[in-house]
Amino acid sequence: MTTKSIQLIYFSPTHTSLKVANAIAEGMNLPMSNEIDLTYPIKDKDIIVNNQLTIIAVPTYAGRVAPIAMERIQKLKARETPAIIIVLYGNRDYEDALIELRDQVKAQGFIPVAGGAFIGEHSYSTEVMPTAAGRPDESDTLIAKNFGKAVLQQLESFNHLNDIPALHVKGNFPYKENKPKTPATPTTTYELCTQCQLCIEICPVEAIELKEEIVSDPETCIKCCACVKDCPNGARVFNTPFTEFLFKNFHERKEPELFMPTPKKATY
Ligand SMILES: Cc1cc2nc3c(=O)[nH]c(=O)nc-3n(C[C@H](O)[C@H](O)[C@H](O)COP(=O)(O)O)c2cc1C
Repeated sequence: MTTKSIQLIYFSPTHTSLKVANAIAEGMNLPMSNEIDLTYPIKDKDIIVNNQLTIIAVPTYAGRVAPIAMERIQKLKARETPAIIIVLYGNRDYEDALIELRDQVKAQGFIPVAGGAFIGEHSYSTEVMPTAAGRPDESDTLIAKNFGKAVLQQLESFNHLNDIPALHVKGNFPYKENKPKTPATPTTTYELCTQCQLCIEICPVEAIELKEEIVSDPETCIKCCACVKDCPNGARVFNTPFTEFLFKNFHERKEPELFMPTPKKATY
């Protein structure tokens, strides 16, 4: 199988999924034919995807694929498109996110050929109580680049897409149960806010608006913390007990886990 170009599909409010997807692509050293950003609302009912090798990267929320990413993935229409599936998680656990992603992309017409779980700075990490701060870091990026290179080499050892063995990844089915949503949202420190409205622009679910002040709707908010991490003035804060819980319990560094197809055996 020869791969001529690659495409990226991602949902990445705080940019870690995108960083890893880019590093994998860089390792492949092929032209990028297309980029589909699912982070922002998409009006189209269907998104038609070409059949170039695709890297699909999304974050883990509560041990599953972030539900809004899942919703948007269901708009993708592919046909025999090979896919490298990637989940990011904040150094706690990715539980059933990768297996769920595998199953869903298959249902959309992709053929999952390789997968990986990488670690990204936790959305609830703060300067005072950091969890996986700065990740993916240099070491993660190198692993991602080498993974891209290795997957490409392995794909070349197969004559046809249908020869690639089914991809096995870690996770359980039935998947971990999705708990009911508990409404909450970051708040604005008004003394620091300049009302630049960047937060309104980057919110993946349009939960923020400018009334007298910048306010967000806890019912709509997905707690992704894009507005917290990207605010140029540090004016958005998400106060959650999870920040301390994660800091106390998940500081031991986890490493990326990779899942590859077994290479085709030589026949004599
Ligand atoms: C609502 C929510 C739930 C999360 N649940 C988990 C989890 O179960 N396990 C984990 O390790 N990280 C969890 N995280 C952290 C994210 O998976 C992690 O920060 C990821 O790198 C974010 O990806 P992004 O930068 O592409 O948005 C959660 C984050 C949010 C916002």
